[in-house]
Amino acid sequence: MSKDFLALCDWSAEDLRAILARARTLKDLQRQGRRPRTLEGRTLAMYFEKPSLRTHVTFETAMTQLGGHALLLLPEQIGIGTRETPSDVARNLSRWVDAILARTFSHALVEEMAQVASIPVINGLTDLLHPCQAMADVQTVAERADLEKAVIAYVGDGNNVANSLLEAAAVLGLTLRLATPASHRPALRVRRRADACAAASGARLSWSEDPVEAVQGADFVYTDVWTSMGQEDEAAERRALFEHYQVNARLMKHAPQAFVLHCLPAHRGEEITDEVLDGPRSVVLDQAENRLHAQKAVLERVILGALPG
Ligand code: CP
Ligand code: NVA
Repeated sequence: MSKDFLALCDWSAEDLRAILARARTLKDLQRQGRRPRTLEGRTLAMYFEKPSLRTHVTFETAMTQLGGHALLLLPEQIGIGTRETPSDVARNLSRWVDAILARTFSHALVEEMAQVASIPVINGLTDLLHPCQAMADVQTVAERADLEKAVIAYVGDGNNVANSLLEAAAVLGLTLRLATPASHRPALRVRRRADACAAASGARLSWSEDPVEAVQGADFVYTDVWTSMGQEDEAAERRALFEHYQVNARLMKHAPQAFVLHCLPAHRGEEITDEVLDGPRSVVLDQAENRLHAQKAVLERVILGALPG
């Protein structure tokens, strides 16, 4: 167990399952119009180096609904690395607020802040990982299928979203087939940790370059953008490289019963067609909704140190 929520491989299967169970409870309570105020008087500082709709809105809303407060800090206001060091920012915030949410380019930056902060640091996406997304993804899968049996296929770029999905599958013992170009497999350091977790959990992780092989008979087909935030200069090159990895009606013929997942935002017409993204098998808005519930459970877990009984 970690004080921080930076990488899913830092957490045990038992902890992640408890967070997911609490997320389900919080979603049910909200549907009944009940909102526990478990974070009354608590404050979350949110630092965003990159744009965000879902992560920003769901974390801020989660804090408000749980009785707490969230404040937004932008790079131009606080100047991490220019006005003062990451360490000084993290140590100051530790004296005032209860947790830090950070969306940064560099993964090393959130690790550095977490190391010196006395309060929990939550990874709201780095170039390497997007653990909060993967929690909502698993929650969405669990709403539609038996987690033990579900076959999840991820097609496209082995990016931050794929890396965290891989870690989630590895810790929780899921079946995940990845199809990416050989040059864009998930990061080696993530694969190594995931393989170690998978050996303990019994997760079935496989990789190929062939999207058809990956999606054949799958229960879920997941994709994400080919050009992530910060990679805009490579967009044309990436469009060519990933051309055969588009999730479209032709590919989905190999997985006719599969639900379609996407973390959003989508680059419509690139990694996924409108027809599939907006089609009857798409559960992308459930995924987006679950960000709110999964993150409430993560916030409770790291701020309170334990989930409410
Ligand atoms: N999926 C996701 O993290 O969305 P945002 O970039 O809008 O936060
Ligand atoms: N891989 C995408 C995810 C956005 C939520 C990016 O990093 O831009």
